[in-house]
Amino acid sequence: MEKMVVQGGHQLNGEVSASGAKNSALILLFASLLAEGKHRFSNVPQLMDVDSAANLLHSLGCETKRDGSNFEVLVRRPKSMEAHYDLVRKMRASILCLGPLLAKYGEAVVSLPGGCAIGTRPIDLHLEGMKALGAEIILEDGYVKAKAKKLKAATFLFETVTVGGTENIMMAASLAEGTTVMENAAKEPEIVDLANYLNKMGAKIKGAGTSVITIEGVSELKPANHTVMADRIEAGTLVIAGAITGGEVTVKDIRPEWIDSLTFKLKEAGFKISITDNSVTVHKNKSWRAVDINTAPYPLFPTDLQAQFMSLMTVAEGTSVIGETVFENRFMHVQELCRMGADITPKTRVAVIRGKPGGLSGAPVMATDLRASACLVLAGLAARGETSVGRIYHLDRGYEKLEAKLAKLGASVKRLG
Ligand code: UD1
Repeated sequence: MEKMVVQGGHQLNGEVSASGAKNSALILLFASLLAEGKHRFSNVPQLMDVDSAANLLHSLGCETKRDGSNFEVLVRRPKSMEAHYDLVRKMRASILCLGPLLAKYGEAVVSLPGGCAIGTRPIDLHLEGMKALGAEIILEDGYVKAKAKKLKAATFLFETVTVGGTENIMMAASLAEGTTVMENAAKEPEIVDLANYLNKMGAKIKGAGTSVITIEGVSELKPANHTVMADRIEAGTLVIAGAITGGEVTVKDIRPEWIDSLTFKLKEAGFKISITDNSVTVHKNKSWRAVDINTAPYPLFPTDLQAQFMSLMTVAEGTSVIGETVFENRFMHVQELCRMGADITPKTRVAVIRGKPGGLSGAPVMATDLRASACLVLAGLAARGETSVGRIYHLDRGYEKLEAKLAKLGASVKRLG
């Protein structure tokens, strides 16, 4: 099994570009199902999750072609409307083909994604939304079986802010009859990216990026070309990589406001941050203070950067409290960080980190999920000696060429098979 070996103690310096956003690319690929014909995407990251999405599209009769970061999808009417368990279990986001298939073809059979490492992650709100649009839904044999002759617009209020739920219903409502209003919608930049693409296809969506999104249904959508937005989570991870080694790192090709919640916290911790139209730089720093964070939906601190920020706090001066309000059971990296010498007490949804500057030492550790794997690599960069991070396949789901990017900045990282 592949692992990542990190020799700690090298300061990271230099510039690096963010790749295309995983969480946007996946949903855009599924959204293409809404219009038969050829869709062209650019800035698509090369990731295992994108391969999983492509496999699901193949199983639904699509052809895909990749050339570097360009990605073409030729959508045809699927012979079967089923997203099989074997494909869905590899990637939970596969549930996002439910809305497009149901809206376009009046039918979808999608495997229930099941639990995952960071909590139960239900899809009840996706299903409630589809029902509100008039779909008949049954859960049978581990599958969601959905049917609707023609979806009809509705006003829907999300009880919890859900990124995937907002996206699924936005896609479905694009082809529904009438005007759908979604209240308490997620405001993540990926929602805006999806709405922009759907609007290029001929949809009539307003308000994406705010908590009220209005979708005037249209009878047909057409294929479109789209450039995937930059990955704000990868960008944030690379900024923290610079910070944790005390170096000066510039992450280019992103919209800095997408990671304001991180850069605000870094400034509070004592880092100097410079921002241009399309880059964020964290400047050299010898020591930093502990600060508290609470994860929450955008524009607040993203749960997807919680683990990486925790690594930074393990070597801060003072005690920080990290609250995880989005997912239960998202502290599995804590035990591994403790094996590297961190002093962390995890409670339900809260962790108390007693920082020790220079206090991490290299150790063999195991990644438990995607962002936890990044957090352990970051801790390895700051640790004395060698850290080997096992189960690195988690990292390949969501970070494009992370070791190459870190090596370019001066890290000593290598992959062993
Ligand atoms: C997306 C991101 C993921 C990120 C998360 C939160 C993708 C592919 N993944 O996941 O990286 O960590 O947003 O920013 O974009 N919930 C329900 N019922 C539902 C749906 C969600 O109760 O039907 C709950 C979840 O259990 C969770 C919260 O809502 O507590 C937020 O989840 P959600 O925003 O839906 O996350 P995902 O879209 O799965």
